[in-house]
Amino acid sequence: MGKLMSIKSVETGMVLDMEIIDQKTGAVLVPEGITLTKSLIEKLKGNNVSSLIIREEEVPAALKNEGFTKEYSKMSEGLESVFEKAMQNGEIKTDEVMYQMEGFVSEVSKEADILTQMRLMKKTDDYTFNHSLGVSILALTLGKWLGYSEVQVQELAVAGIFHDIGKLRIPIDIVRKPGKLTEDEFDLMKKHSFYGYEMLQKTGEFSNGILLGVLQHHEKVDGTGYPNGVKADKIHDYGKILAICDIYHALTSNRVYKDKDSPLTVADYLKKESFISLDPYMTQVFLKNISKFYVGSKVLLSNGTTGLIRYIHPQDENKPIVQIGDKFLDFMKAQNVEILDILI
Ligand SMILES: [Fe+2]
Ligand SMILES: [Fe+2]
Repeated sequence: MGKLMSIKSVETGMVLDMEIIDQKTGAVLVPEGITLTKSLIEKLKGNNVSSLIIREEEVPAALKNEGFTKEYSKMSEGLESVFEKAMQNGEIKTDEVMYQMEGFVSEVSKEADILTQMRLMKKTDDYTFNHSLGVSILALTLGKWLGYSEVQVQELAVAGIFHDIGKLRIPIDIVRKPGKLTEDEFDLMKKHSFYGYEMLQKTGEFSNGILLGVLQHHEKVDGTGYPNGVKADKIHDYGKILAICDIYHALTSNRVYKDKDSPLTVADYLKKESFISLDPYMTQVFLKNISKFYVGSKVLLSNGTTGLIRYIHPQDENKPIVQIGDKFLDFMKAQNVEILDILI
């Protein structure tokens, strides 16, 4: 059974559960069972198709990790309540989140496939909310890959959860604006890292590292970031870690003003930035390790078919070997198809 969805809500990677027929000629324009690509969605929009029947996703039971699901849900309830109260009076009472933190960190630290788990858990449409949990998971995981102590890993999880909390003090129509921000609006938006720092500092509950991480998550190692435009040696390691995880999570998610990019495109972008604005060593550790989660994942190709990632080359984790039926495509060599997205 499929479900009816507005064309505005469908995403690449979803599977069509209907045929699209030319009203005049009766010819099948798009057959049933096709995986939607960005260009196909655009084409359908252009043809005034307003809704589609989409195949309901069957999540294989084996993919769902019970422990992760439980801790993620508890944490997201805690965070929801912190956000709600902060919206009402601008103050944050963090107990509900802090109380869940240990269980959350220990479950995420087991390193189940966090990317798949995060995708399965995404429940609400609230970008800042999903993003806070996502960045927390990525930051604590990167801390582990960097060999950090348990205390540091926990601090990174906390800094990730709260890194954008200052956005609650920015007018919601600017935070959710679908188009490009004006210069004034962007200047206001940029204040969120300082606001967040201030809100957390007021509670008196957080270490210097957590506070600096939040304050500096938009600083760049070449000094082009904000709020203070400081360079690498003045940026706390937590700030550098959050910057990498923040960009990765933001670009691989749908935002109000832009559709998500494929994790491979984003990895390419991060690699380039690691020579300019991001910490090179930390970015390298992040990309090397995160790519291991992609083995076994389904990918959507530019010709509308799907395949499975079978191997990641250690020398370039962005060009995998993909199996399509009984054929293997090695993306280290030139191919006439592109990988558009990694599905589940
Ligand atoms: Fe931010
Ligand atoms: Fe962020």
